[in-house]
Amino acid sequence: MPKRVLPPAFLILSACSISTPQAGPPPVASAAAATPVARSTAVTAPAARPEPVAQAASSTPVAKPAPEARPAAVADAGLADSDPTRALFVANCAQCHGLRGDGEGVTQLDRKARSFLAGGFSYGNTKDAIVRSITHGIPGTPMPAFEKALTAAQRADLAAYVIGLGPEQIQVDAEESEIVVRDLPVVVRGKLPPIVEGAPEWPRGIAIGTPEGLTFEYRADDVQLVGVRAGRFVNRADWGGRGGDPLGMLGQVLWSPGAVPRAMHAALGHMREGLPGPAFPSTARLVATAVVGNTAWIEYALKSTDASVPGSVAVREQCQSFRNALGSGFVQRRFVRTEETGLYIGLPDLPASVPSVFSGSCVCAFLAGERPALIVAREEHTQGSVVRTEGPRLLVELQRGREHEIALYVLTDLVPGTEWNAAMQERVVRGFCP
Ligand code: HEC
Repeated sequence: MPKRVLPPAFLILSACSISTPQAGPPPVASAAAATPVARSTAVTAPAARPEPVAQAASSTPVAKPAPEARPAAVADAGLADSDPTRALFVANCAQCHGLRGDGEGVTQLDRKARSFLAGGFSYGNTKDAIVRSITHGIPGTPMPAFEKALTAAQRADLAAYVIGLGPEQIQVDAEESEIVVRDLPVVVRGKLPPIVEGAPEWPRGIAIGTPEGLTFEYRADDVQLVGVRAGRFVNRADWGGRGGDPLGMLGQVLWSPGAVPRAMHAALGHMREGLPGPAFPSTARLVATAVVGNTAWIEYALKSTDASVPGSVAVREQCQSFRNALGSGFVQRRFVRTEETGLYIGLPDLPASVPSVFSGSCVCAFLAGERPALIVAREEHTQGSVVRTEGPRLLVELQRGREHEIALYVLTDLVPGTEWNAAMQERVVRGFCP
């Protein structure tokens, strides 16, 4: 499998895409096993720079502060400074969550770290769920992953520690009706409620919960990712088999297509004498869902809505969290194959007015707004099959019988202050299109 060569500076900064060998057939290029990364700060003031977390971790246990140097707040909280878990918290967490765990850390974040003092955890309040938040981070938010920087025992101690900061009576058991995702992804089918107010409900839906704590919601009638959540998975209480009630989705919304409802959609078209003919929308018929090793797959057959583009394209798709120096979010990987000659696939489906930059085997598009996002479509192992782009769209010519891997990266949590200027474009291109 060809490996991309990244500039060393990028590798250091990004720490993304740590390859994990996968059992099972699909050739997964890289699992985004994100490690804690100091979010790059080119666009923020140096003072606002988050402490490099990995570095802080390596310096633990911290030197025991002299009693008189100890912040009063800590003494108030009655926390012994000889507690090694407290030292871990100070070294790794306090810069964002505050020394007292009140959410008032010194690091400036566009999305505030939570206070642990009131109890109640949006991403799951069982100890398991909190260990998971610490282990994998919360993709799409500044909360980093500590899988590499801390041992399993340290993460478990920290989970107990942050629970202990809250009121005593906080509920730390999963409700009986809650489906909890542990080591393997879980796939459930049912009616999906609107992901945001005003969005449609999908009577035939699929929800995939991953061990990293993300939930990928698909409509199943015309297979498409319609939303992503972070945190807890599904409450089964609401869907007692009558089919009428929607699934009780428990996670926080991380991504919803919003203004561009078909953003993740693939178009199909035909090559004509080496040039791409017109692109048409496609429809996707569900074939199967599967969990192979620790990855959930959804398989479907794409067909053009236009009779002039015959044949179909078989797609296996997989989603997981993603993090690099530009921000965090998720990546949707499509493994695409067709027996037809001369077809191309076009991604993503964004209006021509969306600012974008095309380089090498990828196109990067910027969705401005209250919470800006970056969408990058990339042919992962290009061997000359990327044709060109039409505005913010990547066209990949499909070679008959060959499997193409096309990834769509969606960064929902960009480094604070990100704007679509020349410097940013250069960083994006360097980060994604070496
Ligand atoms: C770079 C800043 C940063 C650091 C460092 C950091 N966190 Fe967080 N953390 C956040 C943010 C921001 C959130 C809230 C995410 C959201 O709700 O959007 C969060 C959320 C969490 C949550 C989930 C809370 C919930 O509502 O379920 C837990 C648990 C947590 N952090 C624990 C820790 C621990 C333990 C450490 C140290 C090992 C740590 N964090 C280090 C920024 C940080």
